[in-house]
Amino acid sequence: MTGEASSRATERLGPGQADIERAAAILAAGGLVAFPTETVYGLGADGRSARTVASLYAAKERPRFNPLIAHLPSAEAAMREGLFDDDARRLAQVFWPGPLTLVVPVSPACTVSDLARAGLDSVALRVPAHPVASALLQACGFPVVAPSANRSGRVSPTEAAHVLEDLSGRIDAVVDGGPTRVGVESTIVACLDGRPRLLRPGGVSREAIEEVLGRRLDEAGEAGGKPIAPGALASHYAPRAQVRLNATQVRPGEAALSFGPDVPGDAAARLNLSPAGDLAEAAANLFGYLRRLDGAGPATIAVAPIPGSGLGEAINDRLRRAAAERP
Ligand code: TXA
Ligand code: MG
Repeated sequence: MTGEASSRATERLGPGQADIERAAAILAAGGLVAFPTETVYGLGADGRSARTVASLYAAKERPRFNPLIAHLPSAEAAMREGLFDDDARRLAQVFWPGPLTLVVPVSPACTVSDLARAGLDSVALRVPAHPVASALLQACGFPVVAPSANRSGRVSPTEAAHVLEDLSGRIDAVVDGGPTRVGVESTIVACLDGRPRLLRPGGVSREAIEEVLGRRLDEAGEAGGKPIAPGALASHYAPRAQVRLNATQVRPGEAALSFGPDVPGDAAARLNLSPAGDLAEAAANLFGYLRRLDGAGPATIAVAPIPGSGLGEAINDRLRRAAAERP
């Protein structure tokens, strides 16, 4: 099941226990299985096996210097893979299971392969809160590394159908657990040098994390003279269309993505992330709506201004990358 990324039949599995056991067996045999988490769908592989991880990078066309998140069924299991300081412990206690990833130094007992960690001496760990993800991780009993289940650089998948659009024929199976609840990826916090840093805004707000820590998060920056956010590529989450931010008026030929009041003007297609101006609703709709508007084939998607607080920080981060110049 490993090796070349091309042409394999992709099985569609459901969320029942028998199918979850089938998915775990495929993973244990070195296959690639997409599964739902509460944030986005992940493309899972056995994190212990460099060979399997190599096939995952190939299926996603992901650069190998961008390390992966290891998913575990419990904080206890995660704490065997990494070394947790007091801050990391407190964050794990409050936010796991949930949309938070902690980057910590590898423990001597760490089983996540070097390739999955891109050779770093740290490891990214996450305990997801989705019942299907939990059951699958429980059934596996090894760390499952899982990037978002899209081709590298594209919009992240929040439904099984999105996974198949990008990866059908390149992965062994997808477990369909319906649309995801949070809709943006996990928040990533590095606890490496006694100064917790926000590497990526996500499903847990900066404000909520700072409240638990009792202090402000540092920016990504460096630890011990090395940059600590290796995968933060500027262009990412990109639909085919160009993306224009902070639009207050639709221009001819554009599609419109509103938040709160509709962006005025004659749009080729239009959707509203949250007519009521609710950031959680907007986050849940973000990637699916970008895909739908993109499907209408406009040259540009004009996006309304969205507040930057709470979940708005993650939404604006994804939109900025979607709008960034493409390589
Ligand atoms: O919500 C999520 O986090 C989803 C679901 C599937 O769990 N996963 C996800 O994975 O977003 P991915 O591969 O798209 O993003 C992982 C990010 C990358 O930006 C990578 O650079 C960072 O985590 N990362 C992983 N290991 C790291 C490490 N040791 N140090 C710093 N950053 C790391
Ligand atoms: Mg991703």
